[in-house]
Amino acid sequence: MSATQRIGIIGCGSVGVTHSECLAAIEDAKLVAFCDTDSSRADELRGRFGGKYATDDPARIFRDDGIDAVYICTYHDTHGPLAIQAAEAGKHIMMEKPLALSLSECNRVANAVEKSGVKAMTGFKMRYYPSVAKARTFVPSPIVTIAQMMDRRWPDEFWANDPVKGGGNILSQGCHTMDLVCHFNQSEPVRIYAEGGNFTHSGLSIFDNMVATITFANGSVASVAQGDSGETPFVSKLSFQLLDGERTVHLHNRLKSAILFDGTSTRTHDDPEEYGFMEENRDFIDSLKRDEDPPISLADGVRATLMVLRAIESLETQAPQRIAL
Ligand SMILES: NC(=O)c1ccc[n+]([C@@H]2O[C@H](COP(=O)([O-])OP(=O)(O)OC[C@H]3O[C@@H](n4cnc5c(N)ncnc54)[C@H](O)[C@@H]3O)[C@@H](O)[C@H]2O)c1
Repeated sequence: MSATQRIGIIGCGSVGVTHSECLAAIEDAKLVAFCDTDSSRADELRGRFGGKYATDDPARIFRDDGIDAVYICTYHDTHGPLAIQAAEAGKHIMMEKPLALSLSECNRVANAVEKSGVKAMTGFKMRYYPSVAKARTFVPSPIVTIAQMMDRRWPDEFWANDPVKGGGNILSQGCHTMDLVCHFNQSEPVRIYAEGGNFTHSGLSIFDNMVATITFANGSVASVAQGDSGETPFVSKLSFQLLDGERTVHLHNRLKSAILFDGTSTRTHDDPEEYGFMEENRDFIDSLKRDEDPPISLADGVRATLMVLRAIESLETQAPQRIAL
C-alpha cells in the first residue's frame, strides 16, 4: 500500500470542507477529486485545495484507479448507495452518519465492505474530546448514564429535516449520542424504549424529539433526550452524566467541560476547544497506511444507526424494541 493516500471527497458542503481542511494538513493524504451534485461546490473546493478534477458524478471517482479512499459527506438517503458502490469499486471509506436509512441497507453496506475487504471508518468525532476520555477513565463502568443532545429548533427547510433526504433530528444527530452512550458503557445495547414524536415540525413527516431508555448487556441503563426543542443554557446542547454508585462525572459546555466527583471531592477539567475532525482524519489515514482496521469501525456506525432506527420503531409502536446486531 502506498504511503500517500489519494482521496476523493463526495459531498462538498460544510463537512466536506472540514474534512478537506483536515486532509490538506495531513502529509500522507492527497486530495485528488471533489464531487458534488451541485458542481459549483465541487469546483470551489478544487479551486481551494487543488487536486486533479471536480465532478458532479460519483461514478467517475469510483472508476478512478488513482483514488484510494472516498469520504461520503452527502445527504443521508445517499449514504448507503454511495458506500456500497465505493466498496464494490475497492475504495476505502470514511463515512458520515447515519450509515443508512434502514437496517437492511446498513447490512448491505456492511456486507459490501466485508466482501471487498476495504477499510471503513465512521466519523464519530466526539469520541476524541479529551474530556470524553477523562470521563470514560473516571467512570469506566457506569450503572446509569443520562445523556442529552438538544438543538435549537431546526428550520423546516433544512435538508436534514426533509423526510427523505435527512429524516429529522433524531436520525441525524441521534447517531452521535447513541455512539457516545455505547462508548461510555463499554457494553452492547440490547433494548430500547422511546417516547416522543413530532413536537416541533407539525408540517413534516419526521420524528423530531424523544426521550429513550436503553438497557445494556451488562445490566446498565441509559436515558437519552434527543431533539430540537431548545438548547438549555446551563448545560448547553450536549450533556452526559455517568454514575457508577460511587463516582459521578458530568460533561457539559458542549462536552468541553467535565465535573468529576469521587464521592468526597470535586475537580473540574476544561478542553480549550472542540476536537475530533483532525484526529479522526489522522486515524483514518494512518489506518490505511498501516493496513490496520480504523479505530472507529463501520460496525460502530451500524450499531448507532440501528439504535436510532429501533428508537423510531419504538415511537411508532409504543413498545420496547430489541437491539440485535
Ligand atoms: N460529524 C459531524 O460532526 C457532522 C456535522 C455535520 C454534518 N455531518 C454529516 O455530514 C453529512 C453532510 O452534512 P453537511 O452539513 O456537510 O451538509 P451540506 O448540505 O453542507 O453538504 C452536503 C452536500 O452533499 C451534496 N450531495 C448530496 N447528495 C449528493 C450525491 N448523491 N452526490 C454528490 N453530492 C451530493 C449536496 O449538494 C451538498 O453540497 C451528513 O451526513 C451530516 O449528517 C456530520
